[in-house]
Amino acid sequence: MNTQSYQPVALIIGASRGLGLGLTKRFLERDWQVIATEREGSVRPELRNLAATDPRLSVETVDMDSDASLQALRDRLSKRSLDLVMVNAGTLGDPDAPFVQRLLAVMRTNVAGAMSAVRYFSTQVRAGGVVAVMSSELASITDNTKGRWEPYRSSKSALNQSLRSFAAEMPDALWSLTAVAPGWVRTDMGGPDAILDIETSTRGVTNMLMTHFNQRGIAFLNYQGKTLNW
Ligand SMILES: NC(=O)c1ccc[n+]([C@@H]2O[C@H](COP(=O)([O-])OP(=O)(O)OC[C@H]3O[C@@H](n4cnc5c(N)ncnc54)[C@H](OP(=O)(O)O)[C@@H]3O)[C@@H](O)[C@H]2O)c1
Repeated sequence: MNTQSYQPVALIIGASRGLGLGLTKRFLERDWQVIATEREGSVRPELRNLAATDPRLSVETVDMDSDASLQALRDRLSKRSLDLVMVNAGTLGDPDAPFVQRLLAVMRTNVAGAMSAVRYFSTQVRAGGVVAVMSSELASITDNTKGRWEPYRSSKSALNQSLRSFAAEMPDALWSLTAVAPGWVRTDMGGPDAILDIETSTRGVTNMLMTHFNQRGIAFLNYQGKTLNW
């Protein structure tokens, strides 16, 4: 491998808007190649517009709620070696839906979809690479003294738990696993009152992830690199 011309590759799942789009921009700024995904029929053109002017960016489609869709993406990318997989896609669920419906919906996307993506794409991550999921500070069971956001919190706690099981069952894995808490960010999900802008959060997340290459093990970290309570 000629290290001088080596251009690392990131797969960012859920990049049509918000933090995923921000992370895509941050890795392009670092001169990475980025494979970024949106859902089929996405009405948000930003990612595709960026790809039209930047050959380092390619856009794929996947819906994490569909195993067939995840498998199809895995098949399309089967020849690619990845340095980073970031499973960013997530949902708060429909606030007007009944409790059980909302809980099942967030579990479907934030846990089943996200962990399927981890299982499918981590096999393509090179030794020394990074596998990351977008978790949340709300995932912490230890720090949950105030309640609220029960379905969403539960899904992110379950995501962290699932990631820890995955790590424990793969002690010989040659990449590191990271559950990321991006802070409270002004996106469609975070809303206008959130304290961070997308650039601050994604710059912090990117800097933090860069310190995890050529390491092993699992960590739960915020966008400033601070270790959080599980
Ligand atoms: N914003 C915050 O304050 C905050 C705080 C903590 C954690 N997070 C986490 O950070 C991640 C990104 O959040 P965000 O604020 O950027 O949210 P967002 O603005 O609502 O964007 C969510 C992204 O996920 C994609 N997505 C949702 N469901 C999907 C599915 N089933 N399959 C594929 N893609 C799907 C969306 O695609 P479409 O455009 O097609 O809907 C969109 O690209 C989420 O995991 C979220 O839980 C956010």
